[in-house]
Amino acid sequence: MNFIKIGSIKLKNPVMVASGTFGYGIECKDLVDLDKLGAIITKTITLKPRLGNPQPRTFELPYGIINTIGLQNVGVEKFLSEKLPELKGITKTPVIVSIAGEKLSEYAEVANILDKEKISGIEMNISCPNVKGSIISKCKTDTYNVVKLVRKKTKHTLIVKLSPDVTDILEIAKSAESAGADAVSLINTVPALFHKNGNIVLGGLSGSCIKHIALRKIYEVAKFLKIPVIGIGGIMNVEDALEFFKAGAIAVQVGTGNFIDPQIPIKIIKGLNTSV
Ligand SMILES: Cc1cc2nc3c(=O)[nH]c(=O)nc-3n(C[C@H](O)[C@H](O)[C@H](O)COP(=O)(O)O)c2cc1C
Repeated sequence: MNFIKIGSIKLKNPVMVASGTFGYGIECKDLVDLDKLGAIITKTITLKPRLGNPQPRTFELPYGIINTIGLQNVGVEKFLSEKLPELKGITKTPVIVSIAGEKLSEYAEVANILDKEKISGIEMNISCPNVKGSIISKCKTDTYNVVKLVRKKTKHTLIVKLSPDVTDILEIAKSAESAGADAVSLINTVPALFHKNGNIVLGGLSGSCIKHIALRKIYEVAKFLKIPVIGIGGIMNVEDALEFFKAGAIAVQVGTGNFIDPQIPIKIIKGLNTSV
């Protein structure tokens, strides 16, 4: 398999693990050979620690899951003092750090703190449906502004993660590109609703059931952008991954698949080795 280039990151294969489905990487070290992965995208971090939403926060369906984690994380400081050194100590695989902020300026603050760190890249999560406020990547102006702010603060490769919950994903992806993104990744979860004991729970849907939505969104952007597109959504096996490449993705991320079988990314990498 040839190396894949995303910004200045060189990946030994095009299969990564998606943010929020692989912890900070270290939790998975006994389940997966981390060195085999193309890249590890860590759980989204914010400036301050977040407790996330009250339990229950995940709802299993026959064809996927709805989650409403609400960006629980240890905050950038603890991530850098505890999680990142441990992860870097156990693998040479590129680490891409997912970031978010409660306001646009917070993204820039977190990116600025990360700029001095030995990481391979940043993925801006501007598409989480499980936090208060609107999804930034629903608005092309906000998308442009936040990517521009972060771009000014970091030399790291910058990936911008998009929501499928928009009318025209191409105009959002183009805003990210013109503001300086090195790549876009899509899709984040699809906003959804779950009934739990008579209560309505709002969350994000992921897994096999969103694969064809993701494929369509990737197809809608890939041929019109100069920057690479990373495909995410319901990827469970090598055939799924190949469908994403055909739709225009240069690399893929496995999310919900990690909960079903943590070996799925490795099986896809092996499958790609034999199919190319
Ligand atoms: C439990 C759970 C937590 C997630 N947390 C994050 C997160 O912190 N940051 C993020 O960018 N995406 C997060 N996601 C979204 C995934 O990275 C991915 O974009 C989405 O689930 C679609 O891919 P999949 O169908 O392969 O899971 C989360 C998804 C799940 C299921």
